[in-house]
Amino acid sequence: MSSNTDISDVFAWEAFDSRGTPTIACEVVLTGGGRGTAIVPSGASTGTHEAVELRDGGNRYGGRGVSRAVANVVGPFAQAVHGRDATDQMAVDSALRQADGTVDFSTLGANAALAISVATVKAAAAATGQPLYSYVADAGAAPLLPLPMVNIISGGAHAGRAIDVQDFLVVPVGARSFAEAIEFAWEARRGTAEVARQKGYNVALVADEGGIAAPLPSNRSALELLAAGIERAGLRLGTDAAIAIDVAATEFHNAQRGSYELASENRHLTSEELVEELRSWCAEFPIVSIEDILAEDDWDSWTAGTSTLAEVQLLGDDLFVTNSTRLMRGIESGAANAVLVKPNQVGTISDAREVVRAAHRAGYATVLSARSGETEDSWLADLAVGWRTGQIKVGSTMRSERTAKWNRLLEIEARLGADATYAGPAALSPDFASAQD
Ligand code: PGA
Ligand code: ZN
Repeated sequence: MSSNTDISDVFAWEAFDSRGTPTIACEVVLTGGGRGTAIVPSGASTGTHEAVELRDGGNRYGGRGVSRAVANVVGPFAQAVHGRDATDQMAVDSALRQADGTVDFSTLGANAALAISVATVKAAAAATGQPLYSYVADAGAAPLLPLPMVNIISGGAHAGRAIDVQDFLVVPVGARSFAEAIEFAWEARRGTAEVARQKGYNVALVADEGGIAAPLPSNRSALELLAAGIERAGLRLGTDAAIAIDVAATEFHNAQRGSYELASENRHLTSEELVEELRSWCAEFPIVSIEDILAEDDWDSWTAGTSTLAEVQLLGDDLFVTNSTRLMRGIESGAANAVLVKPNQVGTISDAREVVRAAHRAGYATVLSARSGETEDSWLADLAVGWRTGQIKVGSTMRSERTAKWNRLLEIEARLGADATYAGPAALSPDFASAQD
C-alpha cells in the first residue's frame, strides 16, 4: 500500500562545506509533495575508525571531490529507498546499509548515506507538518534545549597546530536559558579576544570553527588566557562559566614510539604523564569536561585515566566514533564516561540515535557535535533538542556555519516560550543521562 510519505525522488549535487571543500547536498521528495534537503559535514581531525567518507581522488578539487558519492546517492542508494515510507527511518536507514553491504559504508560512502538519511528525516517532518525537533522526539518526550560548549581558542588540526590541544571551550554553567548561555559564551569570547589583543596577538585570525587561533607559547597558556578572558567579560570563573577542552590526543600521538608529542612545548609524554598533566590543569582551572584525553586505541590507559580524572566529564570522540560496538567496549572497560555523537561518523540518523540511547542506558552523558567542516544546514540543532542529548558542541559564536546551529536553537527556545526547558549544567551528570533512558 502506498502512502503520501513514500520516497518518490532523490536528488543530489556537489556543494561546499565551510572550509571550501566539496560535500554532498541532497533532496528527498515524497509522493505527497513533502521534501527535505540536507548538506553533510566533514571532519579534519578524524578518527581512524569512523565510517568511510568517499572522495573521488584524482586531480579534480585536489582529490577531494565527491562526484562519485553524489552518483551513489542518486544511483544505488536512491534505488534502495525508492518507494519506502520516509516515516520509517529505521527501514530507510537499514536499506541504505544493505545497499552498501559493509559495516563502515566503505562501498558507497557514509557521506552519501548520511545525505539521504538526513534529507529523509527532514522530508518526513515536513510531510507530517512538524518541526524537525518534535518529529525526531520519542512519544511523550518534551523538547530539551541543550547546554552548549562553545569554542573560544583553537589549536591542533583546526588552527595550523599553533598549539597541540585542539579546543578550549567555555561551558556557561551559570546560565538559566539557552539564550543566556550563548550570551555568556559571546561575552567570554569577546573578553578572551580583548586579553589576547593586549598581549599582542592578532585575534582577527580565526580557526576552522571560529575560535581564536593565536600562536600561544603553551597549552597551559591557552587555559590562562581563557580564564582571564572569562573574568575580563565580568563572568565568575567556574560559577557562570566553566572550561572544557578537546585534547584530540590521537592527533599528536606517535603510535610507533607510544608517546604523546606536544610539539608546541617540545615535550614527549607517556599516557600516564599526559593524564597527570591534565590532572594538574583540572586542579588549577574549573574544567568540567575533557574530550579525547588519549589516543583512539590507547584503551588500557583510557581506563586508567578515566579513574584518575573521574570527577570530570570525559568524552570519547575519536575513541568511540559514534559506533555502538566501540561504545560498548568503553562502557565495559570503564573508558571515558561520556560520548561525543557525530552522525557522519556512522552514516545514518538511526545509528546515531541508537548510540545516544545506549549511552544514556549506561549513564554516559551525550554531546551532539558538529564537524570542523560544516555547512549552513542546521539539522543538528533539532536533533539535540528532540533527542534530549543535553549538550551540544558546534564551534564558536561566529562563522555562519556555526551560528546557523545557535540561531536555530535560539529560534526553538523563543518559539517554545514558556514551554521551553533548558538542560543547564545538570546535563553534565550521569544522573541526567540515566534519567533519559
Ligand atoms: P573534526 O573536529 O570535525 O575535525 O573531527 C571536531 C572534534 O574533534 O571534536
Ligand atoms: Zn573531538
